[in-house]
Amino acid sequence: MAIIRAIRGMKDILPPETSRWQWVETKARETFERYGYREVRLPVLEKTELFARSIGSDTDIVAKEMYTFTDRRGDSLTLRPEATAQVVRACLENGLMKAPGVKKLYLMGPMFRYERPQKGRYRQFHQINCEALGSDAPELDAEVILMLVDLLGQLGIKDLRLLINSLGCPECTVDFKAQLKLFLAAQEGWCDDCRRRLDTNPLRVLDCKSQHCQSLLVGSPTMEDSLCEDCSRHYKRVQFLLDGVGVAYEKKPHLVRGLDYYTRTAFEVTAAGLGAQDSVAGGGRYNGLVKDLGGPDIPGIGFGIGEERIIELLQSDYNKESQLKVFLAAIGNRAQEEAFSILQDLRKAGISAVMDFENKSLKSQLKIADKLEAKVAIILGDQELEKRVVGIRPLRDFVLIQEGGKYNLVEIKEKQFVGQVFQQEEIGLESLIDHLSITYFKT
Ligand code: HAM
Repeated sequence: MAIIRAIRGMKDILPPETSRWQWVETKARETFERYGYREVRLPVLEKTELFARSIGSDTDIVAKEMYTFTDRRGDSLTLRPEATAQVVRACLENGLMKAPGVKKLYLMGPMFRYERPQKGRYRQFHQINCEALGSDAPELDAEVILMLVDLLGQLGIKDLRLLINSLGCPECTVDFKAQLKLFLAAQEGWCDDCRRRLDTNPLRVLDCKSQHCQSLLVGSPTMEDSLCEDCSRHYKRVQFLLDGVGVAYEKKPHLVRGLDYYTRTAFEVTAAGLGAQDSVAGGGRYNGLVKDLGGPDIPGIGFGIGEERIIELLQSDYNKESQLKVFLAAIGNRAQEEAFSILQDLRKAGISAVMDFENKSLKSQLKIADKLEAKVAIILGDQELEKRVVGIRPLRDFVLIQEGGKYNLVEIKEKQFVGQVFQQEEIGLESLIDHLSITYFKT
């Protein structure tokens, strides 16, 4: 019988890759909390109306990509394609908007879009989102962008480009839309979607994915030229603040983003090495969204990071804190018995450790240890038991060296390492835990 496979565009995330995900999420949590953000966890299902009303009916997301279905009661529900609208919904519903000051929230989790799957583009993907509600100050825009850049830097992601634009307010977009419509109407050859958007929502043409449409846009009017005085001042101040803290950016006049709720600052971060789907994060201000969703007139700004794309970009030497430290290889019944309690002592000392209970040969056990990517194997056989010692053997990327008469575990970093290396160290059972904690793993 054939096995049942996962749905196209939805992938399983398995070890050892999961440790990368955990590491990224931990870094994100630590960073956001340093800037005063707190976590929210919200349902993956929402009423369809929430997304239709906020993201915009002309966007690709709402027009083509939502996983929408009718439930048993006949209500139209949608698997969330993004998180901003639902964060606003949750704040309104739970009275969070009433709290004084800026509401700073973050959310991590799966999003769903029925797009054509390709490298870096999935139908279930994961986002790390931050939303700050309650201030229109350009300082907040700069801080949000800075926090994103800070996190990406800590994750060691290189060759990034930060693109920014201002989409103005509803007043200045009236003028811009009129100018843009004239420009668009004077060109021929737009795709079917864009022909429709010419009338309904000309800004969406700027975001069209067709290469041909993009080529027709050369020389089109830019939003920056149509910004009202307030929006222009706001945009300049954001740039001034970013310059002040040394965050490099490029102005991209056609950046409109794929969702209709944006006003004023919009931004995107792209990375080299991702191919066609090179946007690792995107965000911006959404000053009208809370009101559009039935709340008070409260401005907001935020961003969403594509987690799959971040994972793809992680350097191979990303932090290995979560790597399994010890594989305890016990050979023979007596050794297996003794090892069972050593295993527990190791864990109590904060050292991650596993053993195999099948009493296999040393060779087979070391194979398992290698597969699990453990840092060291601790070997306990009859001989060792007799002498009340164990052997410590470095695995994979590690070697033992001698420093000041003592052995120490070091990582072989591609040929950088020179000097005598040792295959195994023997140490008394009584001092094993202290030795591992102090010298090897510094727990
Ligand atoms: P977005 O640009 O649609 O913005 O998505 C943000 C990020 O999610 C993208 O830059 C990309 O890295 C990732 N992403 C989007 N679609 C896919 C996909 N099909 N497969 C893999 N990754 C994907 C938003 O969703 C806004 N809600 C962000 C925001 C928050 N704006 C303000 N606050």
